[in-house]
Amino acid sequence: MKITEIHPGIHYVGVDDRTTVRFEALWPLPCGVSYNSYLVVDEQVALIDTVEERFGGQLFGHIRETLADRRIDYLIVNHMEPDHSSSIEALRRLYPDMRIVGNAKTLAMIEGFYGIREGLVEVKEGDTLRLGAHRSLRFHMIPMVHWPETMATYCPETQTLFPGDAFGTFGTLDGGVTDAQLPFDRYRDEMRRYYACIVGKYGTPVQQALRKLAPLAIGTLCPTHGPVWQREIPRVLDLYDRMSRYEGEPGTVIAYGSMYGNTAQMAGRIARSLAETGQRNIFVYDLSTADTSTVLRDVFRYDTLVVGSPTYNGELFPEVQQLLDKLANRCIPHRRFACFGSFCWAGAAVRKMTEFAARTKWEVIGRPVEMKQGFGPACYEACDELARQLAQSR
Ligand code: FEO
Repeated sequence: MKITEIHPGIHYVGVDDRTTVRFEALWPLPCGVSYNSYLVVDEQVALIDTVEERFGGQLFGHIRETLADRRIDYLIVNHMEPDHSSSIEALRRLYPDMRIVGNAKTLAMIEGFYGIREGLVEVKEGDTLRLGAHRSLRFHMIPMVHWPETMATYCPETQTLFPGDAFGTFGTLDGGVTDAQLPFDRYRDEMRRYYACIVGKYGTPVQQALRKLAPLAIGTLCPTHGPVWQREIPRVLDLYDRMSRYEGEPGTVIAYGSMYGNTAQMAGRIARSLAETGQRNIFVYDLSTADTSTVLRDVFRYDTLVVGSPTYNGELFPEVQQLLDKLANRCIPHRRFACFGSFCWAGAAVRKMTEFAARTKWEVIGRPVEMKQGFGPACYEACDELARQLAQSR
């Protein structure tokens, strides 16, 4: 059996993207990304999701190699974001009789994105499509994970779930396809980063989806990005559960902006003092150089965020403001928060960060440290005291 045949009759036909620099034109892809697509073959043939259109030619090659002259009877569309749907028009030209299966929201989007109105099959929660004597597909709606039309498709005969982006991760599939053939450690942090950047706002719908899918016997998880999960399913489900509950493990992210290094020295002092109290898992990021997606990943992972900013044109340092905006957008319901800031002649940064904490209803730890002009002995003790308060509050 070829490595791409996950179960008899279920084939991986996705592609690897090692050229796109930023996913969604926002998030860096140091390890690339895969767009996963699957064929389910019985008396009839279904393709589950397509790939980003620049890679459509590769997808069609994989399909032809698998099916030879057989046709595709159904395209199942679990998710309409264009990284999975933008090959649909070209695929329809190759297989003009192929019927396109989705829920009502999906079919409306297919018309909106691609002007396709014919050959559509609407499915609802629990509907089953039988492909033959050995394979059937059942549909479960998991809206807002992370688009409203999102659907999961389940093949009961093989206990295989195709859940769209859920349980997906950045990172290409280098050689292997399943988690038995790929190193889990390479993908774990990329799964966290993918979740924080792409799905992070939608913790409540993810929890609803996990509850809905819990009764299914799942031996194989086939997401639209990253490895096919089999032996690591318990760890993947646990990670998703914890991330979607916004659970933070003990650890401190210190993220700051600094124009001339004074606020950076405050960050360094707080980090060192915190370490001297015995605290571990401390991560310090200069927001002018750090990758925001990595900072978001770690804020999702750890329970404490300490932010530092100079006052800049009467506002927060722009990179700090951008981080706080991204965090507010993700509706993280609880974190421990502390802040420090600086100004030259009129302070605003500490007030702005305190207002942020009030809006998010995060727990504020300690007294914010506010520095006027340069970093010197007058500020050392205040930074040390903030670190002590962070440690003692655990
Ligand atoms: Fe991978 Fe939401 O698209």
